[in-house]
Amino acid sequence: PLAATGELVTWAATERTAVAAFNIITLEHVEAVVAGAESVNAPVILQVSENAVKFRGGRLLPLARAATAAAEQASVPVALHLDHVQSDGLLRQAPDAGFSSVMYDASRLPYAENLTATRTAVQWAHDQGLWIEAELGEVGGKNGRPPLDAHAPAARTDPAEARAFVADSGVDALAVAIGSVHAMTTRTAALDHDLLKRLASALDVPLVLHGSSGLPDTELTTAVTGGITKVNFGTALNLAMTGAIRDFLIAHPKAVDSRAYLTVAREAVTEEVARIMRVVRAG
Ligand code: G3H
Ligand code: ZN
Repeated sequence: PLAATGELVTWAATERTAVAAFNIITLEHVEAVVAGAESVNAPVILQVSENAVKFRGGRLLPLARAATAAAEQASVPVALHLDHVQSDGLLRQAPDAGFSSVMYDASRLPYAENLTATRTAVQWAHDQGLWIEAELGEVGGKNGRPPLDAHAPAARTDPAEARAFVADSGVDALAVAIGSVHAMTTRTAALDHDLLKRLASALDVPLVLHGSSGLPDTELTTAVTGGITKVNFGTALNLAMTGAIRDFLIAHPKAVDSRAYLTVAREAVTEEVARIMRVVRAG
């Protein structure tokens, strides 16, 4: 059934686990994420990023409607989340498009401007009954920018600053920069677990990890044990999907029917979702 992100994150915090959130781009992503979650019998979040909306010609509804229908028919709770929103126009479409939550991303701005923009977004979101996540510090590697940015210590989230940011903005959850980087195609990132510990004790809202595709399994389980309550994955699914399609087309160079390669792509994503969710659960 369709669930609310806030409910799933609260459940995860109570169970001392994390809820996995996967970025969806195509209908095959939607079907595969739901199938993967059903195969491990755990709740899941379907995320649509502002970039995915741009890819769909600026239209949110086609993917949102598909995700809502898949969620309603799922045997596990499935929530819809709008991810990395920078545009106020997109933010305002969230409730009518069926989203129970948004991540408002003003982390590229200096502290004071991030706070002001986030506080305004939070007030609007709460009036609409939306759960809202924001980011402080900056997880690098967004929009094709060099992933190495994120290793600069200045990009990390400072615990004292984070405490003030959460209190002054009223956000429901905070995305923290602790060493993960978006869009990594190797699982080689190392997290600052000491910083995570300090953040977890300084803050009383759930912590969110972005760029989780770049983490080895042990880093992921340690992060979940250390207080990460929502873990976001995107690139891992693209690696699985594109790899499966590439292998299929190399093996079948005369293939024509798109269902042939989309079938293997969807199966590969389903398996990757199930694998990731088992690792998250072990945390
Ligand atoms: O918000 C989405 C996630 O942070 C995805 O990051 O593509 O590196 O797994 P990733
Ligand atoms: Zn992210």
